[in-house]
Amino acid sequence: MISIDILTAIKARRSIHQFKTEEVETDILQEIFTYGSYAPTHYMKEPWNIKLYQQEGKRSFVDAIIASYQRIGMLGSADDAKAAKTIESMRRFLTAIPHHALIYFEKETSDVRYEEEYAAVCAFIQNAQLAAWEYGVGMLWTITPYMHDKTFAADIGLDAEAVKIAAVMQIGYPEKVPRHKGRTPITEKMEIISE
Ligand SMILES: Cc1cc2nc3c(=O)[nH]c(=O)nc-3n(C[C@H](O)[C@H](O)[C@H](O)COP(=O)(O)O)c2cc1C
Repeated sequence: MISIDILTAIKARRSIHQFKTEEVETDILQEIFTYGSYAPTHYMKEPWNIKLYQQEGKRSFVDAIIASYQRIGMLGSADDAKAAKTIESMRRFLTAIPHHALIYFEKETSDVRYEEEYAAVCAFIQNAQLAAWEYGVGMLWTITPYMHDKTFAADIGLDAEAVKIAAVMQIGYPEKVPRHKGRTPITEKMEIISE
C-alpha cells in the first residue's frame, strides 16, 4: 500500500533526466495514469489519450523522431559522418529511456473548448507525475519541435488535423534525482485585491 502525502509529493517531485534501464511494470503504469485521469475535465470529456512506447515499440517511434528532426533541419543526413554520429547518439539516448508516453487529444474547433481540453490534459499529466513519484517512478515532461510536424504525426499513425500532441513523457526509475530548485516566493507573484 502506498502512503500518499500529496503536499510532500508536490514539493519533492523532480523532473528526471537519467533513468535506470529497468522497466516499470505495465500495471503500475496503468495505475499511475489512472490517478492522472482524476484530473478535472469540463463536460467530463476526459480528452487524454496515451501511446506508450516501450521495448521494441521504441524503435519506430525513435526512427520517426529522427526523421522529423532531419526534415526540420535540426539533424543532418546520415550520409554525413558527423551527422551520422549525432543521430546514433540521439538514437541510443532515446532508446535507453524505458518508456515514452505520447499524450494527445482530439482538437476542438472553438478556442475555448480547445483550451479546456489542453488544460485538462496538462492537469492529467501533472496528476500522473505526482502519482508516479509516489510509486518511485520518474518522469520528464517534454515538448519538442517534432510534435508540430504533421509527417511525424502521420508516421506514428495520428492525423495532425484531428489531434494535438500535447507532450511526450519520458518514464522510468530514476538513476539520479536532481537537486531541489526551489521556487520564487508566491508573494512576489500574487496581487491581493481586497477592495
Ligand atoms: C510543459 C512543459 C514542458 C517541458 N519540456 C521540457 C523539455 O522538453 N525538456 C526538459 O528537459 N524539461 C522539460 N520540462 C521540465 C522543466 O524543465 C522542469 O519542470 C523544470 O526545470 C523544473 O524542474 P522540476 O520539475 O524538477 O521542479 C517541461 C516542463 C513542462 C511543464
